Amino acid sequence: MISIIGAGRVGSSIAFLCVSSGLDDVVLIDRTKDDAIGESLDLANAIPSTSKFSIDATDDFSKISGSDIVVVTASTGVYMQSRTENLSQQVSMIKDIGAKIKQYCPSTIVLIISNPLDVLTYFFQKETGFSRFKVIGVASSLDSSRFRFLISKKFSVSQSDVSDAIVLGEHDISMVPIFSKVSVKGKPLLTLLSDEEKNSMTQDVREYWKKLRKYKGRSQYGIAKNAFDILEAIKNSNTLSVPACVVLEGEYQTNDVAMGVPVKINQNGISEIYEIALNSEESSMLNLSSEIIKNLITSIEN
Ligand code: 2OP
Repeated sequence: MISIIGAGRVGSSIAFLCVSSGLDDVVLIDRTKDDAIGESLDLANAIPSTSKFSIDATDDFSKISGSDIVVVTASTGVYMQSRTENLSQQVSMIKDIGAKIKQYCPSTIVLIISNPLDVLTYFFQKETGFSRFKVIGVASSLDSSRFRFLISKKFSVSQSDVSDAIVLGEHDISMVPIFSKVSVKGKPLLTLLSDEEKNSMTQDVREYWKKLRKYKGRSQYGIAKNAFDILEAIKNSNTLSVPACVVLEGEYQTNDVAMGVPVKINQNGISEIYEIALNSEESSMLNLSSEIIKNLITSIEN
């Protein structure tokens, strides 16, 4: 069973992918019960006749008992300029949700989608004391999708012609697109871009969400699909290599900070953190990103 906390656009889109593909039973939870019920009445009609799974809607956290995976998409409200705009309320929210998840399903795997992603993944893991490998923040794979898309547009090629476009670090303004690994139709990306083009693409990846928000209000499908890929890997016992946020204990010379790094996912959560070689510019940008997250964490702890 998969429980999804938050029946807004993101939560309901993840639920749609889960039920329409017959992945598992879904429990959709929202503090506004009617919102969860409304979405579930609609989502129930997306369940194929061949599926043995169903969807339930509630505002009662005890219904998550027995979940294999809980997905946290809840938010405290709209932020416009920065994902950390409502930091202290966001952290209180995640601690509260963490306490409830710990109470009702202490052995579950958890996907954090709520923002600010890295800070909330950190506080969720600390609040619950769950293994850091079972608390997975989903965002760097979305940022990587955006990076790949921008590269494909720039060179007028399909996304399948772009290899190894990954973004690491914070899911916010300091995120680090890893240009040194990317190839376009087999050619190293760094040989195809000037410094100016590289800087401009970095800016575009970092600010993609603001552009999206300007036209649509909130992102929805990209994050839903990236979360679904992880859910599918866990449920179907596949392995999946993606960048995701995890509390680091020494990896990338970083301690006690959660940020996006390349990981391997299997049925138990994160089975491995890959320490890939980065060039010196990327390494220092990643260090800076971890310091920015650390400062946000410290601002709440003190
Ligand atoms: C996104 O990047 C806002 O974090 C959300 O689309």
